[in-house]
Amino acid sequence: MRLHRFIILLTTILSTGMATALAAQTYAQADIQYGAKLFGEQCTLCHGGNGDAVAGVDLRANTFKRATSDFDLRAVIANGVQGTGMPPFKFEQPELTAIIAYLRNMRTYDAKTSLIGDVTKGREVFEGKGQCLTCHRVNGKGPRVAPDLSDVGTLRTPDAIMRAITDPEAEIRFANRSIRAVTRDGTVITGRRLNEDTYTVQVIDDKERLVSLTKANLREYGLIRRTGMPSYRDKLTQDEVADVLAYLLTLKGL
Ligand code: HEC
Ligand code: HEC
Repeated sequence: MRLHRFIILLTTILSTGMATALAAQTYAQADIQYGAKLFGEQCTLCHGGNGDAVAGVDLRANTFKRATSDFDLRAVIANGVQGTGMPPFKFEQPELTAIIAYLRNMRTYDAKTSLIGDVTKGREVFEGKGQCLTCHRVNGKGPRVAPDLSDVGTLRTPDAIMRAITDPEAEIRFANRSIRAVTRDGTVITGRRLNEDTYTVQVIDDKERLVSLTKANLREYGLIRRTGMPSYRDKLTQDEVADVLAYLLTLKGL
């Protein structure tokens, strides 16, 4: 009897906790805006601009026939609804994230200040004022000192890209960590880690050479905490960041 009560109490606490977590879910503005764009391109044909053109479904009011969670929505968009007019869509994960962010915020959506700007201008800033190609590579152009951005549009959400540009210290990814090693003879090697196992590590050093190091031969080896990505928060205007973001979102591999 006591155990039974305890379980009921526990379930109540857990479900309240989950409800709070759901209610507290926030969606990033850049993702919402990108979602709005994708929605305009691919969904309004059937659902209409207000999302209420299909009988029994009001996307703007989040009235669905079956879907409730964001997880359900992902599945509906990726797989379609069999036996109905809702087709499956081939979106990348960050695009799905963006569309759902928009669906969840359609009712209050306001596109006044766009965080996603102009693609052509963005490319100009990327290759010119921003000097991004001094470190990054895009479609075969630029060095390998920093991550290749040729398919960043399929890998990262708009929000993650924006934070990488304006707040890189906070956004550094494990996979992008740089290392610093000192060999027995005192040579210091810093570079971007490509691969690592128990005994060896492969890095691209700052002169763009692929170097393979045997850990047993190193005097020192560790991750560098600081990021090699400069913050552009004060170097680019808000509009320029928006333009660069728009450009990067078009990079989806060759
Ligand atoms: C060719 C027409 C068509 C297009 C394009 C289309 N839909 Fe649908 N959609 C439908 C129909 C029809 C339904 C109703 C399905 C049903 O009866 O269950 C639907 C249902 C839905 C639902 C509700 C699922 C539920 O559980 O009730 C969601 C969410 C949805 N669509 C999202 C989208 C999004 C996002 C896009 C754009 C990426 C999109 N749709 C594009 C026709 C379309
Ligand atoms: C001095 C070299 C350098 C310059 C210049 C530079 N970056 Fe970076 N960037 C890096 C490095 C190194 C990383 C890897 C992550 C880290 O260290 O935080 C990175 C990471 C990124 C990422 C995240 C990539 C991912 O996989 O998530 C984006 C997006 C990015 N940079 C965009 C830009 C843009 C846009 C510009 C120009 C406006 C730029 N970078 C200029 C060095 C640079």
